[in-house]
This record gives sequence, C-alpha cells and structure tokens, in this order.
Amino acid sequence: MANKTYKIVTLPGDGIGPEIMAQAKRVLAAIGQAYDVDFVCQDHLIGGAAIDATRAAGEEVTALPQATLDAAKAADAVLLAAVGGPKWDDPTSPVRPEQGLLGIRKQLGLYLNLRPVRVYQALIGASTLKPEVLNGSDLLIVRELTGGLYFGRHDREHNVAGAAYGGGTGQKAVDSMEYSEYEVERVVRWAYDAAMRRKRHVISVDKANVLETSRLWREVTHRIAAEYPDVKSEDMLVDNTAMQLVANPRQFDVLVTENTFGDILSDEASMLTGSLGMLASASLGDGTALYEPSHGSAPDIAGRGIANPLAQILSVELMLRYSFQMDEAANALAAAVEGVLDDGWRTVDIADASTPQDRILGTEAMGTKVIDALA
Ligand code: IPM
Ligand code: MG
Repeated sequence: MANKTYKIVTLPGDGIGPEIMAQAKRVLAAIGQAYDVDFVCQDHLIGGAAIDATRAAGEEVTALPQATLDAAKAADAVLLAAVGGPKWDDPTSPVRPEQGLLGIRKQLGLYLNLRPVRVYQALIGASTLKPEVLNGSDLLIVRELTGGLYFGRHDREHNVAGAAYGGGTGQKAVDSMEYSEYEVERVVRWAYDAAMRRKRHVISVDKANVLETSRLWREVTHRIAAEYPDVKSEDMLVDNTAMQLVANPRQFDVLVTENTFGDILSDEASMLTGSLGMLASASLGDGTALYEPSHGSAPDIAGRGIANPLAQILSVELMLRYSFQMDEAANALAAAVEGVLDDGWRTVDIADASTPQDRILGTEAMGTKVIDALA
C-alpha cells in the first residue's frame, strides 16, 4: 500500500492527445513509485472523442459528457491533453470540441491559467529569436480564464440594415466582452502573490486606451498594487506587449491579463522556449485544478509517434506542485526534463539543423528518457 492515493481524471482528447498522455501516465507511475504515492488515473472523454462516442451511442451529442464532468469534480486533479481536429471543424456545427475545453474550465470554476515560460539553455537554438535576446528570460503568464470575450454573448443576426451594410442588408455578428471587479481582483491578486515568490515585478496588460473592461481592469489592478509596496507594478498596452515580448523578453517577470489577450500572448511567448511543444499550463480555481499543455491537438502529426510529450509531462510537474504540494518531486521532474535536453535529446519540433539524426526521438522514446533521468 502506498502512503497516499490521488485520483486523477485523465482526458486524452483528440489528435496527438492520447500519445502524449500515455507518456505523462508513465512519468506519473515512475514518480508514484519513487515517492510512495499511488496515482490512480481514470480516462474520460472530452472534445471530438466525446462527440464521436456520444453520437455512436445514440446519446445527446456533446463535447463534455456529464460523466466526465462528474468524475472531474470528484477527482484530486485533472490532466488534459488536447482537443479538436479537422474532422469536427465545421464552424456551423452546433457541437464543437473546443466547447468541451471551455465547458470544463467554466464548470470547474477554473478562473486562473498559469503558463510559465522558461528558456532552456539547450533549446536556445530552436527559437527563431536570437540567443542574446532570450538569455535569462523567465516569465509567468497569469491569464484570466473564464470571463471576457470567450464567455460573453455570442450572437448572429440576419437581414440587418444600416450604414454598415452598404445600403443593403446583411448579417451581423456580436461577441460581448464583460468583466466584473470580482473577476479581475481574484486573478490580479494571485499574480501579485506569485510575484512575491519571484522577482517582484508585475506587468498588467490591457487596452485601456480603448476598452472599458480594460479601464476597470486597470483600476482594480492599481488598488491591489497599493497593497504590495514591495512589488514593482507596470501597466502595458497589449499591442506594445506583443512587441516587447519579442524585443526584450527579459523585462517580464509576472504578466497578468484578461482571457483573450492571455490566449494570444501566451502562444507568442511560447516561442521564447523554442516550441509551443514545451509550454505547460495549470488552470486553478476553487475546486479541482486542471493541467494541460498550451498547445493543441496537432492533427497533422497525430498517430505518427513523433509528437513532443514534454509540455504534457511538464503539466504533470505543475500538478505535483499546485495540487499535491510535492515540490521535491516537481523539482526532480523539471530537472529530469532539463537534463534530457542538455544531453541533446530532441523531438523533431525542437531539433535544429545541428541536431544529429540519432538524437531525434519519438514520443515514447522521449518519455523513456525523462523516466530514466528521474531515476
Ligand atoms: C488555449 C486554447 C483554447 C483557448 C481554445 C482551444 C478554446 O487556444 O488553451 O489557449 O483559447 O483558451
Ligand atoms: Mg490558445
């Protein structure tokens, strides 16, 4: 009998999801053995896989079955891989894989998304940016996750007339962006607390020169900033931030922002690590937390055994840290990944022209390397 048991709901989803999830489970098993913890993983359906399964069973077609949600709520943590793919891409379809992801975030109350961006020395050549720009960059993106545009009113009207329709009639689409003070406050406060454990610098990103939601965001942020005199606080407009992230990424420590801006900026920031295949994320709220790579389901390479499992494995690292307070194991896993990279092992997405062919590994072999480095 292990000392402790944790129930983890695993959601492999679509595309490369099942392949990278398999490696994360192997890593969990190895860590469980080393630290005398039993991680009991139970697979559930989400995304396109759930759409197909519910349709085949003649049930109500959904990307987020009730059984998945119930299991997630009852679990100690949720580990998700990725959802989506061309098979379910019809934009007019009423059920889409992404609804599974947005739905589970909302239903679990995961209002905060952390995306730590670390520059691995060994991967500096894999980035499109110059090493002298990247060196020493280490930032934490804190993204609001259940408010704003993605959860606002989405609407379409037909046969609308007016000046914007060129004299005739046409369709109109609306997505509304709303934020309450409370929604801003809980995220920004978390960012300041995180900054206290880091380099004590918060950059809050908004578009306060145009958007009312941003002006509220800025007001709340300034109020909270006043409670943290030891933290250096800055506001930065989102367009400028997009430029600064590639011009001078070292200036960032904690970057906090609303949902849409965080979605876009975190994909941009992933290139500082060399590949979106390296970026893990943790989604936290008041209940069960969820961990997932920041990348998508990469349908173009699915099933070929070449996907990079490291963002999924680094999501396990965040799970150990935030859900199980297993910091020692988390540090060991982070060091194992770094060691594998330092030894020159690569998946194809993080290889460059100088990588010898025999150092390029498939998904499973990369998982094995990490497990061996843990031992
Ligand atoms: C992400 C993804 C999702 C998001 C999509 C798939 C809905 O891009 O996790 O960043 O925008 O939140
Ligand atoms: Mg995204």
